[in-house]
Amino acid sequence: MIRPNTTVLPANQTAKTANSIDDQSAGGAFLPTVGLLALDRQYAVLREEIRTAIERVCDSGRFILGPDVSELETELARALGVPHVISCASGSDALLLALMSLDIRPGDEVILPSYTFFATASAVTRLGAIPIFADIDPHTYLMSPRDVERKISKRCRAIVPVHLFGRTADMDAIVPIAKAAGIPIIEDAAQSILSTWHGRCSGSLGDVGCFSFYPTKNLGGVGDGGFLTTTRDDIAASLKLLRVHGMEPRYYHQVVGINSRLDSIQAAVLRVKLPHLDAWTTARQSNAARYMELFAQYNLEQHVAAPTDEPRGRHVWNQFVIRVANGQRDALRNHLTQCGVGTEIYYPVPLHLQQCFEPLGWRKGDLPETERAAEETLALPIFPELEPAEQRTVVGRIAEFFKAAQVRQPAKDIAAGDPSHTEPPATEGPHFLRRMKAVGRADDVRC
Ligand SMILES: Cc1ncc(COP(=O)(O)O)c(C=O)c1O
Repeated sequence: MIRPNTTVLPANQTAKTANSIDDQSAGGAFLPTVGLLALDRQYAVLREEIRTAIERVCDSGRFILGPDVSELETELARALGVPHVISCASGSDALLLALMSLDIRPGDEVILPSYTFFATASAVTRLGAIPIFADIDPHTYLMSPRDVERKISKRCRAIVPVHLFGRTADMDAIVPIAKAAGIPIIEDAAQSILSTWHGRCSGSLGDVGCFSFYPTKNLGGVGDGGFLTTTRDDIAASLKLLRVHGMEPRYYHQVVGINSRLDSIQAAVLRVKLPHLDAWTTARQSNAARYMELFAQYNLEQHVAAPTDEPRGRHVWNQFVIRVANGQRDALRNHLTQCGVGTEIYYPVPLHLQQCFEPLGWRKGDLPETERAAEETLALPIFPELEPAEQRTVVGRIAEFFKAAQVRQPAKDIAAGDPSHTEPPATEGPHFLRRMKAVGRADDVRC
């Protein structure tokens, strides 16, 4: 298993290299590179189990849906505390299927944020429906409930909050607005698996939830994949039909659906990974806390707004996104790139200003907070296996750019990778996985 603070190295990295990492950071030097992602570190730990699982599927000759897919759906339902999980071919398809299950038609309006991945809106336009973009809260980057309320019209047929970067949208505000208007909620939970809101998992807070197994997600496959969650029996039945061309029984088509089935190989690999998800999530939380301490130590608050944690639920930190003031984002990014630090901009062009959506008639200035976020935000490495020395390099390089002085006394563990440091206890979420002995070794789960 992987524990936070455990040194997990790429397969090709030797123990000698690891020592030199610690030596460098203890001596104040920076590491030569810090990747935005290091999927190889996760694979190195699970290599044998994953290969065995793939071989089992190949031996079985059952490659589409099949026993591994059904088992994965059952295990996910248990982990997320939802009665229905329906897998599909991608997170993008999950959104499309969710809208189809709610019978969204041409001319219907769907309210969603513009500050999200393209698929949230393209699923709407693929059905001939009209995306109505809402602005965001400048602190959380999540859809503003007040703007949602303002934009509800008689033609509105669905509201799609996106739990962006792993933080659950403000469902205390959004659910009552939707209920009062009689409009269903589709949660775009592609980035938020195991995030919670007052103890309930994202995906169980609206009518239907959409998740992605894209490899960089917190639970990523070895290719594309996705799934939907719902508490409603009618939607579950509809989704099961829609993902197989509306076919039931074989070659009898009740409705026009799509082909969106999860491959057995993806399911088998994801079943190896799922028992580790809670520990990986806790590691992401620890990394976020370490970044926040480092930003404070370096007195970077005047230059950089670090994200905050969410007191009403579990933030699962799919991304750690900072805001860079005074038009310096791109220059900082260039500096980090030159120093070997990987970063990404999520997202440089808001959806309402994308070329393909020009006919919808949105203009620059329509969503001021969304547009400002697109110009000012930058994602830093946050993956579970990220080492403290790597985080010190990232923040040290940022401080170097701003010539910020490290005036506060650093905490022992952060300054020197103190091995006696213990991670903060996880407060939510792990109980979902405690019951999952059937899908992996119980000691894989850090409760
Ligand atoms: C917010 C959001 N919605 C939808 C998707 C689409 O998921 P996929 O890439 O699996 O199609 C993604 C993932 O990239 C996403 O981040």
